[in-house]
Amino acid sequence: MRFYQLEKFINLHDGYRRVFKIDEHQLLLLQHDGERHLFEAQCPHRGHSLETAHIENNCLRCPLHGYQFQLNGGHVRVVSEEPCRPLRCYELVYRDKDLGVLL
Ligand code: FES
Repeated sequence: MRFYQLEKFINLHDGYRRVFKIDEHQLLLLQHDGERHLFEAQCPHRGHSLETAHIENNCLRCPLHGYQFQLNGGHVRVVSEEPCRPLRCYELVYRDKDLGVLL
């Protein structure tokens, strides 16, 4: 596994949101209520981008069909069509003044 630097701490704030492309991975880093989360950037239902997904009741709501995934753990909370797997979460790694991920 290799460390990939994503962002500097100093740039993070509530409302922060950014998509990173690393090799075949597309990752969504966001901060909400002081907590930082790193998810796959595409919805596990049908692959829509979650970059503009709203946050409601501590869930990320996909703009396409409204499926909701818990910020903590990515569990599926609301579905409107067929079931889908949870949203993949990645562990954030803190190094010096940087935030990153091991891939
Ligand atoms: S693609 Fe996200 S809910 Fe369907």
